[in-house]
Amino acid sequence: MEYEATALRAVTGTTIRPGGLSLTDRAIEFCPFADGAELLDVGCGVGASVEHLRSRYGFDAKGIDISPKLIAEGLLTNPALPIFEGMAEALPCPDDSQDGILCECVLSLLTEPLQALAEFRRALRSGGYLMMSDMYNRDSLTRQIETWLFENGFTLLLWEDHSCLLRELAARLILANGSLEGLCCTATGTPGYFLLVARKE
Ligand SMILES: C[S@@+](CC[C@H](N)C(=O)[O-])C[C@H]1O[C@@H](n2cnc3c(N)ncnc32)[C@H](O)[C@@H]1O
Repeated sequence: MEYEATALRAVTGTTIRPGGLSLTDRAIEFCPFADGAELLDVGCGVGASVEHLRSRYGFDAKGIDISPKLIAEGLLTNPALPIFEGMAEALPCPDDSQDGILCECVLSLLTEPLQALAEFRRALRSGGYLMMSDMYNRDSLTRQIETWLFENGFTLLLWEDHSCLLRELAARLILANGSLEGLCCTATGTPGYFLLVARKE
């Protein structure tokens, strides 16, 4: 899979996306989570955000990812990290069990994004927060993700454009490898990158 590629990961480090942990921190600071809040990182890769949410904020954070290779790699570095194989479209947690769901640079890769959003809604407690960053088409007048969130009973609280971080990652990839190999650009039109926070009502 593209995001397992060493060319990309040599540049991104353990966070396989634009912006690294700075966007994770921005989202967390926007959400009034209680101490020990239960958070699930969907598509957690090697678990860098899970480790960060636990060590910096003391949250009860866990992660799932479809890639056995990335999960194994994360556990090799940190065997105690609670990261597991799992799919965004069938979350391994009970209804109304999570205070927050993090989904960083994952939804646009899915063939069934609406199934995943329905799962996020099912797994979140009422009033729980969805924190998401991803690619989007900057040319489009309507943002598909906003419609989907509304239809799934979420209220959008924060939307920020962070396309500069996508450009920065692209530049770093070209300087390191002479190409954009490994950057799986899922947006049509002019690609951009967003961060959003939404609340389950
Ligand atoms: C661009 S990487 C981002 C990884 C991680 N969120 C991060 O920011 O470092 C996309 C991740 O989504 C995972 N992924 C792709 N399809 C998935 C699915 N259906 N369910 C769960 N994870 C998935 C990939 O294995 C990969 O780790």
